[in-house]
Amino acid sequence: MLDKALVRTRDLTKRYTMGENTVVALDGVSLEIDPGSFTVVMGPSGSGKSTLLYLLGGLDWPTSGSITIGEDEIEKMDENLLAEYRRNRVGFIFQSFNLIPSMPAEENVSFPLRFARIPRAQRHARAQEILQKVGLSDRATHKPTELSGGQQQRVAVARALINDPPLILADEPTGNLDSQSGFTIMKLLSRLHQAGKTVIVVTHDPRMRQFATNMLYLLDGKVVSEEAYRKATENMTQPIVEQEEIL
Ligand SMILES: Nc1ncnc2c1ncn2[C@@H]1O[C@H](COP(=O)(O)OP(=O)(O)O)[C@@H](O)[C@H]1O
Ligand SMILES: [Mg+2]
Repeated sequence: MLDKALVRTRDLTKRYTMGENTVVALDGVSLEIDPGSFTVVMGPSGSGKSTLLYLLGGLDWPTSGSITIGEDEIEKMDENLLAEYRRNRVGFIFQSFNLIPSMPAEENVSFPLRFARIPRAQRHARAQEILQKVGLSDRATHKPTELSGGQQQRVAVARALINDPPLILADEPTGNLDSQSGFTIMKLLSRLHQAGKTVIVVTHDPRMRQFATNMLYLLDGKVVSEEAYRKATENMTQPIVEQEEIL
């Protein structure tokens, strides 16, 4: 199967209509992502990065076009298949962690297993194992408010891994973190890639490049070349992540 793309989109379009205004968030995106690759997606704010990731993750529907994951076309799945896809085949990591505040780390991590009818003891063991992988075995009983931002994001990474999905999607996972915690998350994603996961990360942080096997540039909802991207963004004055710690 290694000769086939894991993710393939064809002419993917997403439009949002609000009253009389239509925003074209994605404008005909065709791409292929190889299994076992680490893709870094860059683009200015509003260029469609989150929209692309949400569609790949089955969190939203395209207006037109197709998304194929392995052998399956996402937009042809019904709600049940889509829920199964989100649960077992993709792990999603958000900028703002999206942990459940009332639950200790371990329960946040094992939460996706509740729907799989896995006995409590087994859920517990699996969550412990994954928390150990992200270096947080000693924080299993801590609630999100008792953890630093970097630790919360590591809990979120562990949650994304609980069902051992082949595909990891991360939307600006270091955007809310200090420089050092951000780098820890990047190295963690890189380790997952080395362990065989396919990783797609949206980021503004140039340090992520060193881990990438592929770069993807978005401008106004379209995939563009690196050259076109550089030309278009060299005069932009958008906030840039601190660069002092580039390794
Ligand atoms: N739910 C929505 N309703 C209306 N417009 C949206 C919605 N989500 C995104 N958009 C618009 O689509 C465009 C792309 O957004 P987004 O994918 O979030 O960009 P990025 O992640 O690159 O900043 C933006 O113009 C944004 O305002
Ligand atoms: Mg975004």
